[in-house]
Amino acid sequence: MHTGVTIAYTHDLVEWDRLADIFAHAPFATRLPSDIQKAFTNSYACCFAFTGNGTHDGVLLGAARAISDGVYYAVILDVVVAIEHQGHGVGGALMAGLLEKLPVEKIYLTAPPDKQGFYKKFGFYKHNNTMARYAHPEAAFENGVLSKREPWSLARLSRNFTGSKPGNDQMFE
Ligand SMILES: CC(C)(COP(=O)(O)OP(=O)(O)OC[C@H]1O[C@@H](n2cnc3c(N)ncnc32)[C@H](O)[C@@H]1OP(=O)(O)O)[C@@H](O)C(=O)NCCC(=O)NCCS
Repeated sequence: MHTGVTIAYTHDLVEWDRLADIFAHAPFATRLPSDIQKAFTNSYACCFAFTGNGTHDGVLLGAARAISDGVYYAVILDVVVAIEHQGHGVGGALMAGLLEKLPVEKIYLTAPPDKQGFYKKFGFYKHNNTMARYAHPEAAFENGVLSKREPWSLARLSRNFTGSKPGNDQMFE
């Protein structure tokens, strides 16, 4: 890992404009600094990586957060490292730090295929019975992240559990 990186769990030293810039260029998402601040502030656990030893001179390198009930479930979100600092262990340090704060039974996250190898290193597997509801689902249907078609393996599972006999291409609607 980067030498001289500090992991912080409070956002006292976070400049939200800088974090929005990291999000935009990672590349991850274009978001308003005020929305990012609200999302992190409302989260169960946050993790921030800074250069140096955690003083005001430190530069923000990346962040991660989770929402959780603190007992059963957590969802990890917004794991992001500044593009010029990726590939040096910062993301791994953020994940390790965040996982320490999540003593729950089940932890969920979403990741595109090219990032799933990163999360596999922390014990994550593909999850086969997740559903999601988006406020604006059009692009997700277009790129295949959301699907109206039930995968064949799930059709088989539901046949075993309910006794129904769905076809391999059973639709949800
Ligand atoms: C994904 C991301 C957070 C990883 O952070 P990082 O600092 O580059 O990762 P690290 O250098 O800490 O890598 C830790 C380990 O994961 C591996 N790894 C990193 N990215 C990987 C990837 N995309 N696929 C597979 N393995 C990966 C590294 O090789 C390293 O392995 P090692 O411990 O065996 O050496 C960072 O690349 C990023 O911010 N990407 C853009 C935003 C994004 O897509 N976030 C994830 C959204 S789901």
